[in-house]
Amino acid sequence: MASKGKVVLAYSGGLDTSCLIPYLKNDGYEVVSCIADVGQPGANIDELAERAKSQGASASYALDIADEFCEDFCSLAVLANGLYENKYPLLSALSRPVISKHLVDVAHKEGAVAIAHGCTGKGNDQVRFELECKALDPELDVLGPVRSWEFTTRNSEIEYCALNGIEIEVTKKSPYSIDENVWGRAIECGILEDPWNKPPEDAWTMTVDPEAAPDERSYVEIGFEAGRPVSLNGERMGMYELIKRLNKQAGENGFGRMDMIEDRVVGLKSRECYEQPAALTLITAHKALEGLCLPGDLLHEKLSLEHVWAKSVYGGLWFSPLKEACDAFFEYSNRTVTGDVRLWFYKGNCMVDGVRSPYSIYDYGLATYDEGDTFDRDAAKGFLDLYGLPNLVWAQVNRRS
Ligand code: ARG
Repeated sequence: MASKGKVVLAYSGGLDTSCLIPYLKNDGYEVVSCIADVGQPGANIDELAERAKSQGASASYALDIADEFCEDFCSLAVLANGLYENKYPLLSALSRPVISKHLVDVAHKEGAVAIAHGCTGKGNDQVRFELECKALDPELDVLGPVRSWEFTTRNSEIEYCALNGIEIEVTKKSPYSIDENVWGRAIECGILEDPWNKPPEDAWTMTVDPEAAPDERSYVEIGFEAGRPVSLNGERMGMYELIKRLNKQAGENGFGRMDMIEDRVVGLKSRECYEQPAALTLITAHKALEGLCLPGDLLHEKLSLEHVWAKSVYGGLWFSPLKEACDAFFEYSNRTVTGDVRLWFYKGNCMVDGVRSPYSIYDYGLATYDEGDTFDRDAAKGFLDLYGLPNLVWAQVNRRS
């Protein structure tokens, strides 16, 4: 068969992407595999990269991109208070663009004609890989063979691998489908597919059961500069370290669990459980500091753009003019969001306990009901007359009955 050229495979070391190596080769491609460390626990990407080679990849890349993921992707999610449907802090959705960026880089380095992923046809991740890779290089083909291949069971994949000379260690299948990185952990499928079923305790690994959490509050102080987290308890550190430490502290206190029905891009609803202790803590803290530093009108416009941002990122539009324009708005508006937020964790809760900033626009004189009041109460009357005027006129005409 004439060679179709090189394809760069987004490889995880799991059964599907292992099976994709012989599958793509039998389809006429030379396979270059790529595996990424985005801070998933226990990732041994060098070992997995070797495995891809032994399974037939002609070259194999192990990409250590956890720092870049945290600095350039998770920190933008904090600026954006990025929560899809006001809840989900976008862990899988955030990792796909950084991985896509590197897949495209490797494709260029290798002179590849295509990129391949192992996503199914029902999920969001196919949307993200395809749109993001295409946005970075419209000339590259993006292949998702798992959507249409003939294997319907794990056994048939294992047999196919064996037929092609690849031994697959038969591991026990997890009762869930999991995706994880340093920004959190997504748990779906299995018993969770019935939304009335309680998530079993074994579904959670980053957080303890709130009831079993310590009986005292656990405090943390987070420092921000221009909307980006830069320190914990006064100690400066990079985003990756900061996220890891917060995951541990918040998780030990049972904070960060979420259970939701979410609307996928492809139109269906799915039940998802998430653990995102650091992500939810950072967004809680960042919102508190924005509340102190941003004028109300700016804050309100930002809130509506946050929804646009989260929906774009969820839907694979990280590399889009709309989402990038939102980033610019968030970065510009957050120039003065610098300061500290003190929070505590206690049995599954996270509460803001204090907030301060050199750019605080909270004015004690205006706010106080005690001595030292500088607010002009007399001005309130005329303001109310004009502020309520449109509604008053409408009521005079339409509410007569
Ligand atoms: N529903 C989430 C998302 O679309 C998580 C997907 C996680 N993938 C998985 N295989 N569990 O971002």
